[in-house]
Amino acid sequence: MKVAQSNQVQVWDGATRLWHWSIVLLMIFLWYSAEIADDLMDWHMRAGRLLLGLIVFRIVWGFIGSDTSRFANFIKSPAEIIHYLKNKSQHSHAEQIGHNPAGGIMVLVLIAGLIVQATTGLFTSDGYFYGGPFADSIDADLGELFTNIHHIGFKLLLALVAIHILAIIAYLVKRDNLVRPMVTGKKTLSIPAEVVPRLKSPVLAFVSAVICVGAIWFITT
Ligand code: HEM
Ligand code: HEM
Repeated sequence: MKVAQSNQVQVWDGATRLWHWSIVLLMIFLWYSAEIADDLMDWHMRAGRLLLGLIVFRIVWGFIGSDTSRFANFIKSPAEIIHYLKNKSQHSHAEQIGHNPAGGIMVLVLIAGLIVQATTGLFTSDGYFYGGPFADSIDADLGELFTNIHHIGFKLLLALVAIHILAIIAYLVKRDNLVRPMVTGKKTLSIPAEVVPRLKSPVLAFVSAVICVGAIWFITT
């Protein structure tokens, strides 16, 4: 067996990395525009619709994208996750390509949280000046429910993000730096050459992202 011996392997494609850091920047802006600034609500709604489009893109990329971005390659059964957590100390990070089984479930939970937050935003209203594009098309009680979920959901989302960052710090303490690969795309791995992940073309990612964001923008206008 041909072995890629402690080589710099490209584990994350550019699309997934750009997607991740765009989501982080958008989340900061969404918080700032809703909670701190007085006059940025129009931009809050634009940024939220953009984020929703990017989430749809990430779901599509989870089926047609690079090996490490595909859900099928990192969503594991509960039994496999428990097995991984029980035997974590025996796993070598020099062999982990992409998300580990516990990280995989975290990714799903974060994406689900972002979907709830962004879709409830479409029906949210402050009762006076601002409302999401569909706020007027539902009855007042339902609107209030969505608005409450949008408010409380943000706090829950922040709690999930805090767990996400704490988990990454815990790996960092154990000398497993997950952040560098999410920035550079590369990780030093000792893996057989035949399991080196196949990455999809950035053009395919770009076209898919434009279609997803464009479709969501059109639907929510
Ligand atoms: C608003 C805040 C954040 C959200 C919503 C978020 C969400 C996510 C999601 C959905 C993924 C999966 C990526 C994919 O497969 O497409 C991910 C992965 C990752 N995130 Fe974040 N993230 C946030 C902040 C951060 C911050 C501040 C850091 C750095 C300290 C970070 C570091 C990472 C790393 C290293 C991974 C890859 C983990 C692995 O190797 O399995 N994230 N994040
Ligand atoms: C992940 C995406 C989103 C995040 C993180 C987010 C976050 C927030 C936060 C933190 C607030 C303030 C809540 C409070 O005052 O307690 C807020 C309010 C609001 N958001 Fe979003 N939002 C997102 C998406 C959207 C979208 C897509 C829309 C509509 C297109 C939207 C429309 C609104 C409106 C109208 C308010 C004002 C509600 C009020 O003042 O009671 N949001 N959002």
